[in-house]
Amino acid sequence: MLTKTDEAAPTDGPKHVAIIMDGNGRWAQSRGKPRLFGHSAGARRVRQIVEACPDLGVKYLTIFAFSTENWKRTQTEVAGLMLLFRRYIQKETKDLIENGIRVRFIGDRIKLDKKLVALMDELERVTAHNDLVHMTVALNYGGRDEVARATKRLAQEVADGKLSPDDVDEETLTRFLDTCVLPDPDLVIRTSGEARISNFLLWQSAYSEYEFIDTLWPDFTPEVFAKVLAGYGGRERRFGAVPA
Ligand code: IPE
Ligand code: IPE
Ligand code: MG
Repeated sequence: MLTKTDEAAPTDGPKHVAIIMDGNGRWAQSRGKPRLFGHSAGARRVRQIVEACPDLGVKYLTIFAFSTENWKRTQTEVAGLMLLFRRYIQKETKDLIENGIRVRFIGDRIKLDKKLVALMDELERVTAHNDLVHMTVALNYGGRDEVARATKRLAQEVADGKLSPDDVDEETLTRFLDTCVLPDPDLVIRTSGEARISNFLLWQSAYSEYEFIDTLWPDFTPEVFAKVLAGYGGRERRFGAVPA
């Protein structure tokens, strides 16, 4: 059982860290291996990173695993990734429960295989009582898709007379998002040297800090993670105000 060593955990660090786990394909290709080899190595990293969270003072970890645009990849890669997600859940469930990790999934489940969705639902259910780290996995997730789905549900409530158009504001829309129970990310990290958001948490990251690092995701160790978080400490977040 993981325990949180309170005295060691920094209090001024980011509470919610979101990560665009990029670079698995290049990591594999540089070793002359198929892309799926990189995805397997990347999946193994996730466990170390989530387990490092309590000591680093990170309460919420959100990771981008598969985007609404990733269906454009070859059938072999997509099918391999879907199988990897299923195997990962089956293999990790016991440790996630024991380590106090609460798992949630965001993204549209409609396009996902029924067996995978059943495993996702079950993992959410069996970890629902955990509270040490809240890990959210973005799977078939796109920020625009999420806002569109939220708007559709909101419009339905208006059509049904449950909600007045006059009452629609930022807070109302936020309630319809997949992330409705989560705080906004304080820090978004992207690995692999690309400096773009690729449709990740568009609404939620309006005021997040960003860190783009060259490390490829399978090389992203807890030490690299700690170093990135240490760099965050000196930042001044203004949220539009003039500093005192
Ligand atoms: C990120 O690694 C994982 C997914 C998008 C599923 P990539 O597969 O994008 O790796 P690169 O960017 O091709 O190296
Ligand atoms: C973003 O990475 C999606 C995930 C990490 C799951 P991509 O590799 O798909 O992003 P682009 O295509 O380079 O923008
Ligand atoms: Mg990529």
